[in-house]
Amino acid sequence: MPVFDSPSFDHHRSLVFATAPEVGLKAIIAIHSLYDGRAGGGIRFNPYDTEQAAIEDVLRLSRGMTYKFALARIPMGGAKSVIIGDPKTQKTPELLQSFARIVDGLAGKYICGPDVGTNDQDIELISQTTPHALGRASHAGDPSPATALGVFHGMLAALAHQRGSDSLEGVHVTVQGLGSVGANLCALLTEAGARLTVADIDAAAVADAMDKFDAASVPAEQIWTVPSDVFAPCAVGGVINDQSINQLGAGIICGAANNQLLEDRHGQLLHDRGVLFVPDYAVNSGGAIKCLLEGPDYDEAVMVRKVMRVRDTVAGIIDTAARDNIPTSLAADRIAEDLMAKNASHYG
Ligand code: NAI
Repeated sequence: MPVFDSPSFDHHRSLVFATAPEVGLKAIIAIHSLYDGRAGGGIRFNPYDTEQAAIEDVLRLSRGMTYKFALARIPMGGAKSVIIGDPKTQKTPELLQSFARIVDGLAGKYICGPDVGTNDQDIELISQTTPHALGRASHAGDPSPATALGVFHGMLAALAHQRGSDSLEGVHVTVQGLGSVGANLCALLTEAGARLTVADIDAAAVADAMDKFDAASVPAEQIWTVPSDVFAPCAVGGVINDQSINQLGAGIICGAANNQLLEDRHGQLLHDRGVLFVPDYAVNSGGAIKCLLEGPDYDEAVMVRKVMRVRDTVAGIIDTAARDNIPTSLAADRIAEDLMAKNASHYG
C-alpha cells in the first residue's frame, strides 16, 4: 500500500528510508511533527513480517509520540524509528553506528532513544557517532523504571476515580509482560500492597516474578480474562481488540504498552461497557521525560516529580471523559490537540 494512502499516515513531516547492506541495516525514521525544529522518539528493533508492517508501526508510533509529548507538556515533536531485523541476532555495533550516521545526517531534527529491542548500551554506542541520542547508559540510564513510575501514578488516579480510594492494599492487578517496564511496575505494586497475577511468553520471567512478588501466573493468552481490578498491558500493542474486549476480567486498564487499542473504535466499546481505559500515551511518558532531562544537571528528584504529574494528567482525562460522556481515549486526544493548538507557533 502506498504510504500516503495508509490509514496510519497523518501528514507526517518526513519519512527517511535508509539501508546499508554491508551491515544489514534496513531502517525507517518517521518524523510526525517538529517542535522548534526538533522531534524525539525511540528506536524499535523488530523482525517485522513485512515492510508494510514496519511502515504502519513507525507511522503510528511517531504520531503517538507527538501526542505523548504534548500531554506531558514536553516541548518536542514526535518521531520514531524502526530497524527491521531480529535484535538478538542482527544487532551489531557496525549496524548501530551506520544507523547513528543517518541520525546524525538529520542534524538534530531527530533525537533518538531506546525502545523495544534497543537499550541504554546501544544508545551509548550510537552517541559516539551522533550527539542526537538520549538515554545513554553512562548518563541517566535505563528509562524503564521511570515509565513504570508513570504507569503506577496513572493507576492511582484511575483507582481514586473508580473506587473513591487510591489505596492499592489488596487490589488485584494482572500484568501482561514482565520485561523492563512490567517487572519494575510489579515491584512498585507489590510494595504498595497489591496482589499480582502475571503472564509472559518468557517462562523464566514468569518464574522470577512468582518468586520475587509472590505473584500467581496464567498462560499469556489468558491474562486479560482473569477477574481482577486492574489489567496492566506491558507487552505488545493491539491487546484490546474485538476478541479480548468480550473476555476482559478487569474494570480498569492501565499499562505501558503503546497502541493498546487495536482500532480507535475499541475505545468507544470500552466506554460503552463501563471499563475505565487509561490511554497508554498518557501514562507511558516517564521514560521519555527521564531521557530528555539527561545531561550534566540531571536530578533524579526533579525527574520523579515530573513523572508523578502523570497522575494529574490522567485525572484530567477521566474528568473530561465523564463530563462529555466520551471515551477516555478521545478525551486524551482532545486535550493533547488543545495543548498543541495553544503552542501551534512552535510546531512545524
Ligand atoms: P521489554 O521488551 O523489556 O518487555 C516486554 C515483555 O513482554 C517481554 O518480557 C516479553 O517476553 C513479553 N511479551 C511479549 N509478547 C508477549 C505476549 N504476547 N504476552 C505476554 N508477554 C509478552 O519491553 P518494555 O521496555 O518493558 O516495554 C513494554 C511495553 O511498554 C512495550 O510495548 C513498549 O513499547 C512500551 N513502552 C516502554 C517504555 C520504556 O521505557 N521501556 C516507554 C514507553 C512505552
